This record gives sequence, C-alpha cells and structure tokens, in this order.
Amino acid sequence: MDPAGMRDLLERELARGLEAVAAASSTSELEPVEGSILGRRSALGDVQRGLRDLDEDERRDLGRRVNEVRTSLQEAVSRRRSELLVVEAGASLEADRIDLSLPGRRPAIGSLHPLSLVERELVDVFTGLGFRVAEGPEIEDDWHNFEALNIPADHPARTMKDSLYVSVPGHPELLLRTETSAVQIRTMQAQPPPVYVIAPGRVYRRETPDPTHSPVFHQLEGLAVDEGITFADLKGTLEAAAKALFGPTRRVRLGPAYFPFVEPGAEVGVSCFRCDGAGCHVCGNGWIELLGSGMVHPSVLENCGYDSERYTGFAFGIGIDRVALLRYSIPDIRMLFDGDIRFLRQFEGVA
Ligand code: FA5
Repeated sequence: MDPAGMRDLLERELARGLEAVAAASSTSELEPVEGSILGRRSALGDVQRGLRDLDEDERRDLGRRVNEVRTSLQEAVSRRRSELLVVEAGASLEADRIDLSLPGRRPAIGSLHPLSLVERELVDVFTGLGFRVAEGPEIEDDWHNFEALNIPADHPARTMKDSLYVSVPGHPELLLRTETSAVQIRTMQAQPPPVYVIAPGRVYRRETPDPTHSPVFHQLEGLAVDEGITFADLKGTLEAAAKALFGPTRRVRLGPAYFPFVEPGAEVGVSCFRCDGAGCHVCGNGWIELLGSGMVHPSVLENCGYDSERYTGFAFGIGIDRVALLRYSIPDIRMLFDGDIRFLRQFEGVA
C-alpha cells in the first residue's frame, strides 16, 4: 500500500472507530468493537505493520499519525466504557430497588403475663426489704411438703381431697406441692441461720374452680429466721409490702388463723376492689384473703436442725394470683389461665 493509501485508511479507521465506539450501547457490545479497531488484526494493525516498508521520513510522519489515531481510539473506548458502567450500575440499582420508606414488618413480641408482672413486683418489694430469692421443686416428697412442716399424718390436707399425688415407680410419696412452704424446709436444711428468703412458685391443689380459687395457682413464700425476730417484725414487713402494692387507700386486716407450721398464725385480707368491703360475688364477705403467715413453729426449726431456743422466725405465703386480681381488678381468677389473647393484650406495655 502506498503512503497516501495508508494515510487514507488511517483516517477512515479513525472515523469508523469513533462511530462504532459511540454506537456501542453496553460494555459487552463495546468489547468486540475494541478488538476490531485496536486489536492485532485491525486495519490500524495492518497500517502499523506496513510502516516498515516505507522510507524513513514517511515512516516517521505516518508513524506519528498512527500513534495519535491509536491514542484517540483508546481514549474514546475508555471514556465510553466509563459512561456505560455508570448507566449499567444505575440500571442494576433500579432493578434491585428496595423501598426504604416502607414500614418494616414488626415481629410479634408478646408481653408479660399479669402473673409475671405481679411476681416481679412482689420480688422487687421484698428484695428491697433485704430478702433473697430461693427455689424448690414443684414435685415434692411427703416429708418436705407435710411432715417437716408439722402437718401430722391425720391432717385433712394429707387426704387425697386436697393433694395431687404423682405416680412414679419406686417413689411412693411424691406429690405436686400444695404450698411453697416446702421451700422453707429446703432452705433451712441448706444453710445455717440467719435466713431471709422469698420463694415464688406454682402450687397445686384439688379444688373446684370459682372466681377466687384455681386448682393451679401461685404463691410467694417468705421466711425470716434470726435471733430476736418477733411478731412485730412480721406485721411491719407485711404492712410495708401491702402499702407498696396497693397504696394507702385499700384496707388491710389481720386475723387469727391456724397453720400447723406457725404459732401464732395470722391471715391477711385486703378489702375487695369491686365492692370495697360490702360483699359481692367476687369476694363473698367483702375481703379477699391474700396470705397466711405466722411465727415459725419451734418444731419446724428443730426439724431443720436449728436451735429453737436461740432463733425465732416468721413466715408468710402470699397468693400471687389473688394479688393480680386486686392489682388489676380482674373479676375472675380463671381469666389468668384461659389464655384469651384479648385479655392478655391489655397488659402490653405495663412492665
Ligand atoms: C398456705 O398455703 C400457707 N402455706 C401459707 C403460710 C405460709 C402460712 C407461711 C403461714 C406461714 P393458704 O392455704 O391459706 O395457706 O394459702 C395461702 C394463700 O394462697 C391464700 O391466702 C390465697 O391468697 C392463696 N390461695 C389459696 N388457695 C388458693 C386457690 N385455690 N386459688 C388461688 N389462690 C389461693
């Protein structure tokens, strides 16, 4: 090819190349275009190879032009590639678009059951008074549930009428604990005095359900044993707890009661939230019985290896479900166990 023809081809290649680069509408279209205008088999490559047959002046002149054309084409390709990459990234973002303004899907978080709310509140009150939390098993043996608590073999609570026995081969005397008082025994067996514990938990009795009685319910046991503990300490502790829980307006009454493991024994009632003491179908006589209590019987202390001449103590057992009825004006204890979501939703956000 003569130099004029080569120059001509070079200029046409430049024009054709720039046009083809501009026409590429994606990076994958641009790639073969780049090969065809700049690769070894391109017209530009042919011209470059033809340079060696030219004389020196022409080779220098045309050589310079070849380099300019190559640089122009390389720059055009790289500019077009950047443009197309921007367009393609935008398109892929658009395709994978997430609408951040849409509200998220809220996971359904449950709320605390009113019994858990009340239990936590009670635990707060008593730990604030210096008690620590103790635990015991829900399946108990006869000795911890009755014998050690001074409940003699002929006591009515021993009969099948009140207790639910569990049949486990090889363990004849197991039952679902009827009161958390069994934890008193387990705690005293495990440590020397002084003792200041509370034990919240579930208890079981053979009972016919009514607005204030359930066969499965919850108690919070309290036990304080130390030198010099008197009935005044018991009364002061219970009054402080009642005030913290129900405020100053609801009336509290203390009356004598019999429990084999205390002497003397006392029962504490709170005026009914529904009738305020007048008497209604919820409470019967105007009062809701909340807890049993008393001074720990010396035999119970001795059963656990404590010196009853040196130590005295008080104990109480609060019905947690009854506190929940009073606290939230719930008209029937059975609502606590029905699992009705409309009832339970009312306690969302209370904790
Ligand atoms: C007792 O269970 C004794 N262990 C309490 C005690 C502890 C006395 C320490 C002395 C010293 P009682 O059976 O009265 O006592 O039950 C205590 C409380 O549990 C009651 O005051 C009442 O609030 C609650 N309670 C009793 N039976 C039921 C029931 N069926 N359903 C719901 N709550 C009940």
